[in-house]
Amino acid sequence: MTREPAAGAAPGLPTVAIVGCGRIARVHAANLAPRARLAFTSRSSESAQALAARFSGEPLAGFDEALERPDVAAVAICSPVEHHTAQTVAALEAGKSVLVEKPMAQSRAEVEAIGRALIGRPPGSLMVAENYLYKPSLGRLRAWLPEIGPLRRVRISKLTRQQPSDWRVGHGALLEGGIHFVALLGAIVGAEPAAVRADFPGAGDPERHASLELEYPSGARGEIRYGWDTPSLPGGILQHSFVEGEDGRIVFESNGLYLALRAGRGFGFRLGPLADFMGFGAMARDFLGSVRNPARRPRSDFDTARRDLEVVFRAYDTR
Ligand SMILES: NC(=O)c1ccc[n+]([C@@H]2O[C@H](COP(=O)([O-])OP(=O)(O)OC[C@H]3O[C@@H](n4cnc5c(N)ncnc54)[C@H](OP(=O)(O)O)[C@@H]3O)[C@@H](O)[C@H]2O)c1
Repeated sequence: MTREPAAGAAPGLPTVAIVGCGRIARVHAANLAPRARLAFTSRSSESAQALAARFSGEPLAGFDEALERPDVAAVAICSPVEHHTAQTVAALEAGKSVLVEKPMAQSRAEVEAIGRALIGRPPGSLMVAENYLYKPSLGRLRAWLPEIGPLRRVRISKLTRQQPSDWRVGHGALLEGGIHFVALLGAIVGAEPAAVRADFPGAGDPERHASLELEYPSGARGEIRYGWDTPSLPGGILQHSFVEGEDGRIVFESNGLYLALRAGRGFGFRLGPLADFMGFGAMARDFLGSVRNPARRPRSDFDTARRDLEVVFRAYDTR
């Protein structure tokens, strides 16, 4: 497919169409804007025009225009999850590089549909916007893992009070928000669990609280407590998670604000770097690297997202 710069485009900058112009679209636009030309399409033309004006981009007539224009190299899908699969498949089939928001899909059938659309395409064709994989605190934590020896247990906890009033009302807390912590656990352990047990305390369907126990082939165990039904400090700050190995332990504030290491006689303490604290900047750079060179596999690729979503689906299977 030919990718020609639009008239007036800064030479060398790829054009990225942002699809769905709500809250997270603003974050991606801010991080992509210094390195890409931006175009915007949403359900309503008002939302697309507002973001185009704010980020000196171009409003599009609709999603189809993003697919049809040869100068649009990539799309960043920022719509609610129920639209992710159809929009991702259409964009891949139009030859675009895709960044799709988390959760990539809402069922195994949707994951398979995206997998089919990827057959024969280079590994950089699809990236999932799982920013937890790009948080600098995860980098620090992983650098400490060799110090604590073989992993025994990882326990991640984030319990907040969140009462969705938008499209999130129809989605479970585990799929919509807990997926970040499933991805974090997956990045720490780096393996598929052999067993997944789940409990969904409290009333309600979809669930507002999930408690997961995972067993890995190595014998390591993972635990996730995630909820939208628990009064907490803003942002759920000052809750703690643990990584235990045979030779030591890492404790971290669950958002990554700080981390502490105890291994043998050694002790370490680090504030999570505040620069790019949520990882969105690093994520945008990884995405644009794969837009420029689709043979390059991004860190948050399809296989990683499929592995992590499968944990969510296995948890839901137990209900
Ligand atoms: N990584 C993170 O930390 C993070 C944080 C927040 C959200 N997210 C994810 O990002 C996605 C969007 O969440 P959000 O908070 O940005 O939601 P939001 O604020 O409600 O924005 C969604 C936008 O998508 C537009 N839209 C709805 N249906 C569409 C369609 N069929 N085609 C194109 N646009 C459509 C909406 O319409 P209008 O045109 O009417 O405005 C709205 O502007 C979700 O998957 C969510 O899980 C991730």
